[in-house]
Amino acid sequence: MNILGINTGLNSSAVLMKDNKVVFAIQEERLSKMKNQPGFPTLSIQAALKEGGITLDQVDKICVAGKSSKIPHSRNDDLNKFHERYQKIRNAWFGEGENFFLKLAQKGIKKITHADKKENVKKLDDYLKENHLTSKHERFDHQLCHAASAYYGLAKNRNEKYLVFSLDGGGDGRTSAVFIGHDNKLEQIATSDSFSPACLYAHITYIMGFMPHEHEYKLMGLAPYAQPKYANIAKDLLYQFIGFDEANPLVLTNTPKYSEVRNSGSPQKQVLIHDLYKAVLGLRFDTLSAGLQLLAEEVAVNWIKAGIKQTGIRKILLTGGFFMNVKANKLIAEIPEVEFVNAFPSCGDESNAFGAAFLGYQKLRRENSPEIEFEGCCIGTEATFDIEEAKSKYSDKVNFEKVGNINERLVELLVDRKIVARCSGKMEFGARALGNRSILASPDDMRIINKINAAIKKRDFWMPFAPASMEDKLDLVVEVPASLKEAYSPYMMFTFNVKPAMYDKIAAGIHQADKTARAQTVNPEIYPEFYDIISRFYQKTGIPTVLNTSFNLHGFPIVQGACDAIDVYLNSELDVLVVGDYLITRK
Ligand SMILES: [Fe+2]
Repeated sequence: MNILGINTGLNSSAVLMKDNKVVFAIQEERLSKMKNQPGFPTLSIQAALKEGGITLDQVDKICVAGKSSKIPHSRNDDLNKFHERYQKIRNAWFGEGENFFLKLAQKGIKKITHADKKENVKKLDDYLKENHLTSKHERFDHQLCHAASAYYGLAKNRNEKYLVFSLDGGGDGRTSAVFIGHDNKLEQIATSDSFSPACLYAHITYIMGFMPHEHEYKLMGLAPYAQPKYANIAKDLLYQFIGFDEANPLVLTNTPKYSEVRNSGSPQKQVLIHDLYKAVLGLRFDTLSAGLQLLAEEVAVNWIKAGIKQTGIRKILLTGGFFMNVKANKLIAEIPEVEFVNAFPSCGDESNAFGAAFLGYQKLRRENSPEIEFEGCCIGTEATFDIEEAKSKYSDKVNFEKVGNINERLVELLVDRKIVARCSGKMEFGARALGNRSILASPDDMRIINKINAAIKKRDFWMPFAPASMEDKLDLVVEVPASLKEAYSPYMMFTFNVKPAMYDKIAAGIHQADKTARAQTVNPEIYPEFYDIISRFYQKTGIPTVLNTSFNLHGFPIVQGACDAIDVYLNSELDVLVVGDYLITRK
């Protein structure tokens, strides 16, 4: 049985299941080279069919995440909605006229989103018709897809009950939902279409001059630098825009003043946005970020506590774009009542393709068919798929040295303080590089941050890099809450408090203001090669951790294969590139 799951919204994607297993998954951005590319994932579907060795005729069911037939045509579709709303407010305040800063921002965004590219106006139905898929397709509700990705992907024992929380900026008209997952079924017990904490986060991201639905993590990273007493004042101020239903705290609501606001749109939404803009104008950037983050953390923790109190279920699964907030996830993991917690990797809309495929399988499976298995995120294109093409294209610019024990050589380079780009094995799905498309370095020297930034990343100065640690040595590095001791954090979905003894040893991978780290816990079964690299580094240095950041040029998606990797290497000052068994250096 072949099942295709697709997300046609922001960061579109495709997932191929063969029977009960996911065999391939990819985001359109990796193929189109446009970060967070939205729309029908034509290239991803082609790649999935090629990798699966099948044709479209052999697809039994195509499962679409979301009920709507409308498809965003470019990243600007989403951004323009923000521009229009805020321009109206500025015009009312200051009169109509050219806004220099907005113009500058739009110019930058145009460059990133290729907004000048000719936009098409096709709908989902047009694409399905063109590909003769109309009769094979089924659309699944947006929040249900989020929940399905987490439940079928992460719940190890389907006989037990799991409480699944989905929270985002909106899909199919709703912004949150709570489900009980049990016996391979999902039962919705609460939902809302209110102006959610994720909506609030997106709007403040925009107000602060960042890209909404993409740069929220930069505000989260900025938050620990603020003074707590001012952050608390900002948090209280923001609470006028977010509420709980007093009768049922599992339902997130609007406060009475904005009770008519709906995710699908209402005249009062513009009033709320006007009042929000006015309320935060003049607040210091770090104070506003911290107040927002405090609110997001409080709302999330109270929501999960309310769910446990109401249902008695202590196994928690998190999904939807809001839960990319690794600091809120940390606090959820530390709630004493939480027995187990996990968050679906890269749980923005890109992962809804998994949810749709899982729901499709559940519909087609027979009584004794095996349960869905999701074995991790490294399920994309193999790094060396184009190595021969790369050799003929770049042999005048780089040396290709085939190395017997490439991991040992890579570790020697790390110990020698070199920055190594690694493009090996199958590409990771999602926002986080997990070792296979990563820039690796020794974590014990802060100067490496400047070196990586000068070589390639140009990361915002307040944002930390992340450590990747051997799972069985994790207790040496960070404090691990009991709720994470079963699944740990293989997809970088949680932060941890770093143990003081490790502050110097992994200094470059720690948030300098609060001494936390968004650690990837590297399990030898999920990541055999990456685990081998870190354990060799541990043998040589006594540090069971390497620095890991994604392998991409600033503002562009993570690299796919050998040609991409060499192209980025040649456009950077990275020391060395590893592709499969090849050590690649400049001529
Ligand atoms: Fe969503």
